[in-house]
Amino acid sequence: MKVGFIGLGHMGAAMAGNLIKAGHEVTAYNRTPEKAAALVAAGARVAGTVSEASQGDAVMTMLANDEAVESVVLGRDGIVSSLRSGALHVSSSTISVALSERLSREHAQRGQRYIAAPVFGRPDAAAAAQLVVVAGGDKTAVEAARPLLEAIARRVFVAGEAPQAANLVKLSGNFLNASVIESLGEAFALITKGGIDRQRYLEILGSLFNVPAYNIYGALIAGGRFEPAGFAAPLGQKDIRLLLAAADSLGVPMPLGGLLRDRFLTLIAHGGERLDWSAIGALPAQDAGLTAARDRLAS
Ligand SMILES: NC(=O)c1ccc[n+]([C@@H]2O[C@H](COP(=O)([O-])OP(=O)(O)OC[C@H]3O[C@@H](n4cnc5c(N)ncnc54)[C@H](OP(=O)(O)O)[C@@H]3O)[C@@H](O)[C@H]2O)c1
Repeated sequence: MKVGFIGLGHMGAAMAGNLIKAGHEVTAYNRTPEKAAALVAAGARVAGTVSEASQGDAVMTMLANDEAVESVVLGRDGIVSSLRSGALHVSSSTISVALSERLSREHAQRGQRYIAAPVFGRPDAAAAAQLVVVAGGDKTAVEAARPLLEAIARRVFVAGEAPQAANLVKLSGNFLNASVIESLGEAFALITKGGIDRQRYLEILGSLFNVPAYNIYGALIAGGRFEPAGFAAPLGQKDIRLLLAAADSLGVPMPLGGLLRDRFLTLIAHGGERLDWSAIGALPAQDAGLTAARDRLAS
């Protein structure tokens, strides 16, 4: 397919690279143009504007947050005013349910097709085309997007015919990931203060809970390795904020979500913007008076 790709951050650059490897003709745009250099070497064409990247069969976006998506999609010379009728927007950013609903309406008014296709997996999984994609949207639009989704994913799920169903599933999944980080952080604080070797404990966990969330975040918390960030703390904070907004509008109390909201506020207030979101897993150790965690957050 002739596809535009907008947003070449930690995830987007790798995803666009895999579209090229799968044989798609990619025209890439990024607000900071320098980040497109590696993709050009891989065979992408670079667009100077959002509009130029929106002239093909489809355009895929992988942007930081609602504000970025609003400005790129709905702003002056943005995607909705550039995409031809019948062409497809595949939105992979983790955004609010409310914005996804709005994008559905805006695209539909212009005869354009829109699906939400948020992803699970960190930048290493994106580089290896091993993401889990959860798509939402009209069946024929999802099928039209399938060659793009399969180029970046190990599994593609369809959440439903409403695009925002996929956004809600994504937010719920990151709530579960953040809850695992919190509980791992509490368990590590406990065993560390009790004098137990953290790496040995990690091995024990590996045989009890052998799933990606425990393996990935257990290793990061055991090693205190929160830099460089694969998924930056402000983006994790954003996901919990969006989760709570969705819970609020659906009338669902999520007390654990409130606790995670406060964890991110604490992390960012202590200068954690540059750290990986799993650094909230160091806060229970800090609460327990363990010096290493305090040093880690202060550095
Ligand atoms: N990292 C992960 O592990 C992961 C996993 C799954 C889903 N996600 C989600 O995927 C999305 C991207 O994450 P990421 O880690 O790739 O983030 P990132 O590395 O921070 O990249 C963000 C991208 O958004 C662009 N951007 C930000 N604000 C913008 C604006 N106002 N106008 C235009 N472009 C703007 C950035 O452009 P510049 O280069 O110019 O700053 C960059 O291309 C987020 O929604 C995140 O929640 C991330």
